[in-house]
Amino acid sequence: SDYENILVEVTGRVALITLNRPKALNALNEALMNEVIRAAESFDRDPAVGVIVITGSERAFAAGADIREMASQSYQDVYLADWFAAWDRFAAVRKPIIAAVAGYALGGGCELAMLCDIVFAADTASFGQPEINLGVIPGIGGSQRLTRAIGKAKAMDLILTGRSIGAAEAESWGVVARVIPADRLLAETLAVAKTISEKSLPVLIAAKEAVNRAFESSLAEGVRFERRSFHAAFALDDQKEGMAAFLEKRQPAFQHR
Ligand code: HXC
Repeated sequence: SDYENILVEVTGRVALITLNRPKALNALNEALMNEVIRAAESFDRDPAVGVIVITGSERAFAAGADIREMASQSYQDVYLADWFAAWDRFAAVRKPIIAAVAGYALGGGCELAMLCDIVFAADTASFGQPEINLGVIPGIGGSQRLTRAIGKAKAMDLILTGRSIGAAEAESWGVVARVIPADRLLAETLAVAKTISEKSLPVLIAAKEAVNRAFESSLAEGVRFERRSFHAAFALDDQKEGMAAFLEKRQPAFQHR
C-alpha cells in the first residue's frame, strides 16, 4: 500500500479505511489527513466500490487535529496553506461514507465523524469539540455541522465548554445513528455497509445528494430537487430491475447503472 498512516481494504463492494497512527491516538496530522482524503477520492472513483467505511482503533477514532503540528503555526502559515480546506474534497465524495467510532472522537475527530453520512458508535465512544481549551475554535466544520445535527443550545454547550459526551447522549442528540457494543462495532458496521453496497450505486448517490440538499436549500427548493432526482431514477436500468424484481417476488440484481 502507498499509505503510511491508514490501512485500506476492499471486501466485496465495501472499502474500509482504518486510521492507523496509534501512538498519537490517530491525531490528524497533515500526512494522515491527506491520505484519508486521497483514499476516499480513489474509492469514490472505483466502480467496484459502493460504500466507504472509516474507523479508528478501540481507544480512539481520532483525538483531533495534531496539536504538535499546529502549535507553532502563524496566521500567515495557516491562511496561505488554507488549512483544512482539503476536507471540502472529502465532503464532496458522492458515495455513502459510514464512520465506525470507538473511543475518542474529539475536535477534528468529531468533525471527521460528522463529515460522514452515517455515524455508528461503540458504547465506549466519546464526542467533543475541545478546541476552546487550546485557544482556537473548530476548524473542520464543527461549529456548523454540530449545530445542524443537535441545534444551537447543545452545540453552544459543547463548543463553549469543550466538554465531551458519551455514545448514548450522542445518539439521543442526533450525532450518532446507532450505538453498538464495542466488540461488535466493526462487524455490525461492515454488515450494514454490505447491505447498502448492494443497492443501486447511482440511486445511492442520488439519495445522499438529496438528503444533503436539505442543508443547502429552502424546503420548497429541496422538495423540487428531490422530485427531479426521483424522476431521473426512471432513466436507470436499476429502476426497471428493482420494480420488476418486486413484482416477480424475487430479489433485485442491480447492475449499478
Ligand atoms: C497530537 C496527540 C493528540 C492531538 C493525543 N495525542 N491527542 N498528539 N495531537 N490532538 C498524543 C499525546 O500527546 C500522547 O503522545 C499520545 O497521543 C497519547 O495521549 P495521552 O494524552 O497520553 O492519552 P490519555 O491520557 O489517555 O488522554 C487522551 C485524550 C488526550 C483525552 C484524548 O490525549 C487529549 O486531550 N488529546 C487532545 C484532544 C484535543 O484537544 N483535540 C482537539 C485538537 S484541536 P505522547 O507522545 O505524549 O505519548 C482540533 C482542531 C481542529 O482538532 C481544527 C481547529 C484548529
